[in-house]
Amino acid sequence: MKSLGILLSGRGSNFVAIADSIDNGRIPDARIGVVISNQAAAPGIATARQRGLNALVIPSKGKPREEHDREVVAALKRENVQLVCLAGYMRLLSPWFVQQFPHRILNIHPSLLPAFPGLEAQEQAFAYGVKVSGCTVHFVDEELDHGAIIVQKAVPVLDSDDEHTLAARILEQEHIAYTEAVNIVLSENFEIVGRKLIKRILRER
Ligand code: GAR
Repeated sequence: MKSLGILLSGRGSNFVAIADSIDNGRIPDARIGVVISNQAAAPGIATARQRGLNALVIPSKGKPREEHDREVVAALKRENVQLVCLAGYMRLLSPWFVQQFPHRILNIHPSLLPAFPGLEAQEQAFAYGVKVSGCTVHFVDEELDHGAIIVQKAVPVLDSDDEHTLAARILEQEHIAYTEAVNIVLSENFEIVGRKLIKRILRER
């Protein structure tokens, strides 16, 4: 059974989507070993506790990045976590953190990367006037919102949208995309060639 570590800073709806997928068998043979928030007030950490999961707050405020990262990595390793899922974790990981879990850290971002990296991606896309947006699950590397792409989902931007309705349409797809991406990575049935993730099963056809 694979152990997942979830890192979050806020609402936690992507964490809940992953936890639901594990509970109903859409992500088979996995468990959540630990949920960690850098924010004590994150609603996602309260949800994790309600679900009876191992939930930790490791405050980041006022700590040098790597010092905080060392505490987080120690907690993940204590739980033998094999796959780290960033789910609205609003902190950059230090290169040291990334090196602890090579190709074993996933992030979800609410745009079709490489468009609109960084904060408030849905607002950025809406303000730019794109007609299609979406979400990306990718491996975390040492650059912001940059590593190899695992899954992307596109959604239309409607004339009737504002940034909130667009963000809600993207979020629905985020929840689907994250489960797909976790299954791809846990299957270990892929290789990464340059920036490209190639599923082995597709390649052999
Ligand atoms: C999600 O929309 C996620 O894609 C985004 O934060 C939100 C967290 O929601 N992440 C980023 O912008 C990372 N750059 P959630 O707490 O309900 O999962």
